[in-house]
Amino acid sequence: MPSKLYPVLYEVAKAVNSTLVLDDVLRTIVETTGRAVGVKGCSLLLLSPDRSELWHAASWGLSPDYIGKGPIRVTDHFTSLLHGQPQFVRDITHPKAAAQYPEAARQEGIASVYSVPLMLRGDAVGILRLYSATPRRCTPHERQFLDGVADLAAVAIENARNYEALRKDYEEARHTLLEWYASRSAERQRGARPVAFAHPSEEEFARMLDFYRVRWQYEPRSFPLQWDGERIVEMFTPDFYLPDHDLYIELTTMRQRLVTQKNRKLRRLRELYPDITIRLLYRKDYHRLLAKYGYRPLGEDERAADVGRVLFSPLELAERIKEVGQQISEDYAGRSPVLVGVLKGVIVFMADLMRHISVPLEVDFMAISSLGPDAQGAVRIVKDVTRTIRGRDVLVVEDIVDTGMTLNYLLHHLQSFRPASIEVCTLLDKRARRLVPIPIKYVAFEVPDEFVVGYGLDYQEQYRHLPFIGVLRGEEAGGDVAGAGAPQPAQQGAGEPDARSALAGALPQGA
Ligand code: PRP
Repeated sequence: MPSKLYPVLYEVAKAVNSTLVLDDVLRTIVETTGRAVGVKGCSLLLLSPDRSELWHAASWGLSPDYIGKGPIRVTDHFTSLLHGQPQFVRDITHPKAAAQYPEAARQEGIASVYSVPLMLRGDAVGILRLYSATPRRCTPHERQFLDGVADLAAVAIENARNYEALRKDYEEARHTLLEWYASRSAERQRGARPVAFAHPSEEEFARMLDFYRVRWQYEPRSFPLQWDGERIVEMFTPDFYLPDHDLYIELTTMRQRLVTQKNRKLRRLRELYPDITIRLLYRKDYHRLLAKYGYRPLGEDERAADVGRVLFSPLELAERIKEVGQQISEDYAGRSPVLVGVLKGVIVFMADLMRHISVPLEVDFMAISSLGPDAQGAVRIVKDVTRTIRGRDVLVVEDIVDTGMTLNYLLHHLQSFRPASIEVCTLLDKRARRLVPIPIKYVAFEVPDEFVVGYGLDYQEQYRHLPFIGVLRGEEAGGDVAGAGAPQPAQQGAGEPDARSALAGALPQGA
C-alpha cells in the first residue's frame, strides 16, 4: 500500500475509536477516503432494515441533487457485491450497467463507480462507493486500502448501533426505576398517613396488591344509589380502586345474610353507573387467595385437603396439549420461538407441550419471588431469562392464569427486552378470578373457580406430581358462597365419584 494511504487509514481508525456519533464517523470516513484516493466523490450507503434498499448515510463531493435522487433498490446486480465481492462499473451511464439513475449520474459528471461491501460477520450492512469523473480503475493497493476502510466503517456502524441499543435500554430501565420510585414515594406518603382499613382482610389484600406492584386506592369514591327527592339516602363505597386497570374491587368476607344485601347494592350500582367495572370478591375467593399465597390453610375449618374430583384426566390432558402444540407449530411456521416457562408449576406442561411443537424452538425459564407470610418488599425476579430475546418471538408458558398479576408483572419485564413478538400460552385459564386483564393467545382449558392441583400445580408444594388435574376436596364449586348473587357453577360433589377412587383410578400403578 502506498505510504500516503497509511495516515488515512490511521485517521479513519481514530475516528471510529473517538466518537460514538455515527454520522460524524461516517462523514470523516467518506471525506478522508475520497480525498486520499483522489476521486470526485465518495459515499456510504446502508441497507434498509428489510434489505430491499440502500440509503445514503454519508457522502463527500456529491451535490445535494445527486444524493437526493432517491433510494437505490437492491436488485440482482447487487448479489455478488452484497456477498462480499467489490464491484467496478467503468461507465455508469452505459445501458448495460443497468444503473437506476443514469441521467442523474451524467448530470453529476460521474463516469465510473467502484463499490466495496461493508461486511459484519459475513453479512453486508451497506456499501462504500467511490465516484470518478473519468473512467478509472482502482490500483490493487487502493483496493486493499478500501477493503480496510470498509471493515473499519462496518465496525463503526456496529459500535454505534450497540451504543444506541444500550442507550435505549438504559433509558427504559431508568424510566422503570423512576416509575418505581414514584410509586414507592406514594406508598411512603400513604405510610405517613396510614390507611384506616375497615377490616384486616382489606389490609391483607392491599399487601398482596403492593407485592405485585399494582397501584391501588382505598375507598376513593362513593356512589349515590338512592335519593329521597334531592337527598341521597343510600351510598356505596367500593373498597379498592385499581387506577391502572380502571377496576373497582369490593371484598366480602361477611356471612351470607349480609352478602345478599351487598349484592343488591352492586346490581343497583351497575344499573346506575354502567361504565363502572367492579368485581366482588366473595368470602371463598378471598380464602382461596390467602391459601394460594400460603397464608393459611384452605377453607375456614381446615378440612382435610385431598383430591375430591378429577377435572382433566391424563388422557384428556395429553390430547388437548397435542392440539395446542400443533396450533402453535402452525402459527409459528418459518419462525423459531423462545418458550419462556414460569417456574415451578409449568414444568410438567412445558415438558409435554414442547414435544408437540414441530418448529425449531429454544426454552428458557423465569421465576419470581412469592408472596406469603415471609414475603419481603415487592415482587422481584429471582431467575431471569438467560437467552437473548431481543427481536425474538417469545411465547410465555404458564400452568395457570388466575388473578393475572404474575403475568402482568412479567410481561412488562419481558417487553423491555424488545422481543419481535410476545404471546401467552397457558394450560389453565381461571378467567372468573381475573383482576388484571391479560391477553392470552393459547388456552388449553378454562377452569371454574375451584382450587385445582396436579400436573405441576400445587397446594403448599404438594400434589404437583399427580398426572391429572383435580379439585381439592371441600373446594369444589359452590362450596360456601351459594346464593351469593353471582352465577354459581353447578353444585358438584353429590353425584361425583369418591375422591379416593378418582385418585386411585388416575394415578399410575404404585403411586
Ligand atoms: C401460579 C402459576 C402462575 C401464578 C398465576 O404460580 O404458576 O405463575 O400462580 O397466578 P396469578 O394469575 O394470580 O398471578 P404460584 O405462585 O402458585 O407458584 P408455582 O408455579 O411455583 O406453584
